[in-house]
Amino acid sequence: MKKKHLITAALPYTNGPVHIGHVAGCYLPADTYVRYLRTKGEEVLFISGTDEHGVPIMQRATKEGTTPQAIVDKYHTIIADSFASIGINFDIFSRTTNPIHYATSQEFFKTMVANNAFVEIETEQYFDEIANEFLSDRYIMGTCPKCANANAYGDQCEKCGSTLQPTDLINPISKLSAATPILRKTTNWFLPLDKQQTDIQNYIHSITDWKTNVKGQCQSWLDGGLQPRAMTRDLKWGIPVPISDATGKVLYVWFEAPIGYISATKHYFATTNNPDGWKDWWQDKNTNLVHFIGKDNIVFHCIIFPAMLMAHGNYILPRNVAGNEFLNLEGQKISTSRNYAVWLEDYLIDFPNKIDELRYVLTAIAPETKDADFTWKDFQSRINNELVAVLGNFINRVLSLIHKYYEGVIPQNTSIQNTEINIGIQKALDNIEKHLDKYEFRFALNNLMEIARIGNKYLADQEPWKKDKITQTEEIATTLTECLQIVQILQVGMQIFLPNSATRLATFLNTSTNLTWQDIPNLSLSKGNILAPISLLFTKITDEEISLQIEKLNTISQK
Ligand code: 2FM
Ligand code: ZN
Repeated sequence: MKKKHLITAALPYTNGPVHIGHVAGCYLPADTYVRYLRTKGEEVLFISGTDEHGVPIMQRATKEGTTPQAIVDKYHTIIADSFASIGINFDIFSRTTNPIHYATSQEFFKTMVANNAFVEIETEQYFDEIANEFLSDRYIMGTCPKCANANAYGDQCEKCGSTLQPTDLINPISKLSAATPILRKTTNWFLPLDKQQTDIQNYIHSITDWKTNVKGQCQSWLDGGLQPRAMTRDLKWGIPVPISDATGKVLYVWFEAPIGYISATKHYFATTNNPDGWKDWWQDKNTNLVHFIGKDNIVFHCIIFPAMLMAHGNYILPRNVAGNEFLNLEGQKISTSRNYAVWLEDYLIDFPNKIDELRYVLTAIAPETKDADFTWKDFQSRINNELVAVLGNFINRVLSLIHKYYEGVIPQNTSIQNTEINIGIQKALDNIEKHLDKYEFRFALNNLMEIARIGNKYLADQEPWKKDKITQTEEIATTLTECLQIVQILQVGMQIFLPNSATRLATFLNTSTNLTWQDIPNLSLSKGNILAPISLLFTKITDEEISLQIEKLNTISQK
């Protein structure tokens, strides 16, 4: 039976816009993978949405002097627009404040309660008697016991980097009212991961093709021994715990956010005439469920969410989790709070016509196995020396020559007659498949460029422009139609990595914009077909454009 691919990209928090680190680590590889599967004719559903609860959103609301609801409404739209602008094309981009999500999460929780999947544990937590609420770690400040920094948070001291418990702080103060909080008893629902250790271990070990970085993190969590983890919180902003004696408690954001993948699928099918269609994806063993995420989300997707799914019992488990490392910016960590980032919305204002260029660079440097660094100089050199000089140049030369010699009329049916070139291209195509199947986008992209390099070299070696137009007319036509065939093959690969340019190329060639991988062996443009007028697919980035971006960042990093 044919597999269905359910591909998800982490639900971004709506506490700010998205930056290039998010794109490189999660959304672009996910979108590229989906385009790859679609090019191969597979059945795919591509799911994401915004994660709209949790403390970071409450903090942003406080910072912007507004309500959490206003914050999530604002950033949901900004984030959705940014993704759409760079062609990250989800089938559905839902929201965790959607009623369908509330109902799905609450049903999930109640089923787990009915299955006796939780343990109720009483703990002591800081409580603000003036504000009359329990305080989450970030809402408690005090003096760091390690370095005496007076402004340490309940979970961390940003001065010395120590991880803290709220009770470690000396002189704790509530950020809500400036009162000294008191410790008060509270009972919450915990997922007994300690009891599920063997099942989770078996699940992790049953998947033999984890990425090395993902497997390493999972193994270290397992080795450390899993601990029970609270799935409910004493907080105001969130989904109410659907049980009568749980007033004032909400579902832990990391409990309900991954359920967002299920509710987003329901949301998608609710818009079709098959509202129950989601079941064919979430309750069918033939679904290949793959999550794309950043490394800080690995434990939640590989351990906690599968543990929840097992405890619930009615859903499939993730087949793989393509977790990436982080992208740095000019050698420094990207920081939302310091505003040190290249925000997607700003990039789109400064470079509105350089979308595939960004996709190219972010794939070429993707943080797949270790953290990677984005620098503006490298961005410029990859665009100018690779995209423009190799790929764009090859396509432009071939099409220009056909326009020049034949007024755009294709002189022979296109095919590659040279065996060596055929072998070289077939090898690169096999490599693209092999690497994409393993989520190795950098290597796959490099193999697409290899096809352009082969084409460039062949054209340079054949030198059709040096041949005699009367006595060598056959040779000229053969070389140019062989190269045109290579251009068409490039279009298929570009549909995966550089979709906007692939569409433009298809209009130059007067062909379908949706070629499939299976079409490749049979591709041929017919003699007598006419090429449409062309323009450059990629243009260079100037030194001035780059200097401006570097200056912008320098101003921020000096603040
Ligand atoms: O790290 C984040 O941005 C989280 N909001 C990701 C959630 S992924 C999923 F579980 F929803
Ligand atoms: Zn400290």
